[in-house]
Amino acid sequence: MQIVEHAPSLAPFHACALVPTMGALHAGHASLIKRAASDGRPVVVSLFVNPTQFAAGEDFSKYPRTLEADRALCQAAGAEAIFIPSVTDMYPHGVDAANAQAAALKLPLVATQPQLEDAWRPTHFAGVCQVVAKLFDMCQPAAAYFGEKDFQQLRVIQDMARREGARWKNIVVHACPTIRESDGLAMSSRNRYLQANQRENALGLSRALAAAQECARAGMDSAAAESEMRRVLAQHQLEVEYAVIRAPETLLPIEKFQPELKSVARALIAARLDGVRLIDNASCAGAISDRGG
Ligand code: PAF
Repeated sequence: MQIVEHAPSLAPFHACALVPTMGALHAGHASLIKRAASDGRPVVVSLFVNPTQFAAGEDFSKYPRTLEADRALCQAAGAEAIFIPSVTDMYPHGVDAANAQAAALKLPLVATQPQLEDAWRPTHFAGVCQVVAKLFDMCQPAAAYFGEKDFQQLRVIQDMARREGARWKNIVVHACPTIRESDGLAMSSRNRYLQANQRENALGLSRALAAAQECARAGMDSAAAESEMRRVLAQHQLEVEYAVIRAPETLLPIEKFQPELKSVARALIAARLDGVRLIDNASCAGAISDRGG
């Protein structure tokens, strides 16, 4: 497996399958790499903790950096190269200038309208779009793989790639399922922040999603499913930022009865456990109907 530090050395990997990451890799990332490898293209994994997607006061400086373990995981999962650019290579004019450039980007509507991550982390998707666009420019991949765990991010990147079709030769953005621990906790690099005594309460997210799915199966409406999610989250001492049922494409509230959305309505949660921010989501296969529908 090659270690690439500078973009020009990526030339032999153009038309690759790209798995963009911030490192601190876990089994969820391994599944993305394996899925990418199974599609038959050489896999490049980028490892870059992107400063422009963190707001002041977020966890940029304490974000886990585990390069040796990441390298081994990438190799074992079948990557042909890892790309580990420096902050200076990515943002030659400095991070402040990059932040200003990010703020001027025109983002897809799904990055600004739903009032989910966009409301709680208002500068986040500008930084994500900026870095993912740079990675696409540098690697020129034929396909890229993102986890459904960050569902709004996935939708934002899909729409950005669609909008900029010609720039990235109609790159295909693949959505890959969330990988969970055996007890249901969605895998995340940030799970390392959880203390042993918080681990049980962190299960409140996957349990709340299961409760929403149960409401869907029982034919309840989305308002009832949302209040059931909040009840389960409160039982686990989780401080809710949002716990909602949304249309899977736009991530907007489901207002009217739309039978075509019934099988795929998305339940999305962000909640805090003593300052540790956790997100999770799931499709509500079943019969979530509109409010009062
Ligand atoms: O999901 C992540 O790890 C990051 O947001 C991404 C897509 C690699 C951009 O930095």
